[in-house]
Amino acid sequence: MRQYEEQIEKLLSQMTLDEKIGQLTQMGANVLYGDIFEANTDYIKRGEIGSFIVGCTPTQLNELQRIAVEESRLGIPLLFAKDVIHGYRTIFPIPIAESCTWDMNLAEKSAYAAAKEASASGLHWTFSPMVDIARDSRWGRIAEGAGEDTYLQCRIAEAKVKGYQGDDIADRDRLIACAKHFVAYGAAIGGRDYNSVDMSLETLYEIYLPPFQAAIDAGAESVMTAFHDFNGVPCTGNEYLLKTVLRENMGFDGVVISDSCSVRELVVHRMARDEAEAAKYSITAGTDVEMHTTTYRENLKKLCENGEIDVRIVDDAVRRVLSLKFRKGLFDNPYVDETREKKEVFTAENLDLALKIAQDSIVLLKNENQSLPLAKNIKKILVAGALAYSKEDMLGCWAACGKAEECISIYEGIKNRFAECEIYKAEDIDDAVIKAAACDAVIAVVGETRDMSGEAKSRASQKLSKEQSLLLSALSHTGKTLITIVVAGRPLVLTEEEKLCSSMIMAWHLGTQAGNALANILAGDVSPSGKLTTTFPSADGQTHMYYNHNNTGKPARDDFFATSKYIDAPIKPLYPFGYGLSYTTFSYNNLKINNKDLRVGEKLYGSVEITNTGDFDGAEVVQLYISQLYARKVRPVRELKWFNKVFIRKGETIKVEFELDTSTFGYYNSSAGYVNDGEMFKITLSPSSEGGLEDIINLIK
Ligand code: GLC
Repeated sequence: MRQYEEQIEKLLSQMTLDEKIGQLTQMGANVLYGDIFEANTDYIKRGEIGSFIVGCTPTQLNELQRIAVEESRLGIPLLFAKDVIHGYRTIFPIPIAESCTWDMNLAEKSAYAAAKEASASGLHWTFSPMVDIARDSRWGRIAEGAGEDTYLQCRIAEAKVKGYQGDDIADRDRLIACAKHFVAYGAAIGGRDYNSVDMSLETLYEIYLPPFQAAIDAGAESVMTAFHDFNGVPCTGNEYLLKTVLRENMGFDGVVISDSCSVRELVVHRMARDEAEAAKYSITAGTDVEMHTTTYRENLKKLCENGEIDVRIVDDAVRRVLSLKFRKGLFDNPYVDETREKKEVFTAENLDLALKIAQDSIVLLKNENQSLPLAKNIKKILVAGALAYSKEDMLGCWAACGKAEECISIYEGIKNRFAECEIYKAEDIDDAVIKAAACDAVIAVVGETRDMSGEAKSRASQKLSKEQSLLLSALSHTGKTLITIVVAGRPLVLTEEEKLCSSMIMAWHLGTQAGNALANILAGDVSPSGKLTTTFPSADGQTHMYYNHNNTGKPARDDFFATSKYIDAPIKPLYPFGYGLSYTTFSYNNLKINNKDLRVGEKLYGSVEITNTGDFDGAEVVQLYISQLYARKVRPVRELKWFNKVFIRKGETIKVEFELDTSTFGYYNSSAGYVNDGEMFKITLSPSSEGGLEDIINLIK
């Protein structure tokens, strides 16, 4: 923030109050919603808009910018923003899918690839990464984050911010990142999007804040407030969250932007009587920029003039926005080189990366009798299910400028890869059953269309449609090897369908290269290596089955009635966090901990040997969990604290070494203070959040 201080203060001193408030106003400019120029040109000339969330061509953006720079009084350039969530034109797997790669290098690379494409098209700012922890698969936005675990989400938040921003946001192929939605959006009551969130400070600090801290520590330049009310106060007008927590406790000094219309929604929340109060509460709480509505533009001037708001609050918000613009280099070069888009968007390099990430996002859930990979001599394959032929649905939610016609459908991918085979489509269930008879293998694609997850897409049920269940049931009676591919933006309830097939693959929404990635996995060109980052419930209603739960005084058991469970559902989820199969198998041996008695703050060192005991080379995600055996505040049965993805050739053994800082073994108490009371911990090295090799350490305070 110190950079450009002189220029900022000089500019601020020249600005009228209207021009200052203009910098805090972000409007939409999207050619899809009619002519963008009439709606906004006058405001731009008067310096009363500071940024746009856009859907425009580079030429149109340069024209908007020209008006601001050449026709407004002070010539302050505009910032152009967009939701570039998992790619710009080359679409990568949706974030929940990419998180299953557990590969931070890939996470960073896809963000950088998206930044290169988006910046070449004139954008400066993306509203990404979404770092909301999601423990409820009814919530549609579980698709946009990295699942249920705080430690993993922190690592991904860091990777994404680095990928978008690089070392200097002024670099022309980088974007300003925005950690969202502050805070605890995924804990909405009932998994219903936008609904209230009510939780203890301990849970807030332990589960939901760390990914934002990770993003801030990685240099995130902006944070977006969430729509919901948090413990009764809407986040956008929540002074405790935005000032005490975000600014003072977490040290964030960047720009805070509202979510779309969330300032005005303080009236709907019934926190504000009218839009003037909504503006007053929001700016006072610490929301710098108002997105999509104009309560700031229409009310802040009068509120300052009548003394209801101290104009210094406005000045501080404007300083942060101007600092962002100066450090983005907009005052030096506000225009995009319009020749870049043709050369830097949808490149072969980005498509190769999208293929690699899509392949590594795929999670093999079941593979009875090694039905996969398909036999080399296979001749006839039936590919059934409407989603198999869909290009559009491979895009997933929030697909920026991705084009359906540029996506490879699952059917197309299989036809490309198995070119020497006869590949059959099916019109409907009857047609599928008939054609299955003549085939060596049947691939059925089921799950969710792209519009069944993402924003405002919460579902009361996570089951497949009746039509899809009937298709699987009918095909399971043909006596053919049935391979089920599930595409979706969330964990689904697959308990019944899982029994019907030999193999089951979780393929999420994999983006532009979906079909090619799946075909390569089916052919065995690459072994699946994805591991789930969200628990898959075994029944509708079996919510909040996240792995890092407390033991309770009556942990779930089948053999005793009075334990914590549902009487009408299994006590365990269908698939746990961290789970995923490979075409090969791995064995874990010789866990060694070098220092079992250590002080809080010292490093824990150790190693474990992993052997590839199968017939394929493969990658394994080695996971380290801690379990504090006793504490004044009960601790989760397991907490992920380290992981490493390793590639092991068949028959080989490698020694995987770990080192982690025990100062992260603590927890938050009721006053949100961090406590690290020395105690005994179980350390587990495992291929998932269940099982594994264990040892005990003694952590002394
Ligand atoms: C939406 C979303 C937010 C997005 C913003 C701009 O409502 O909640 O994630 O960045 O509006 O599109």
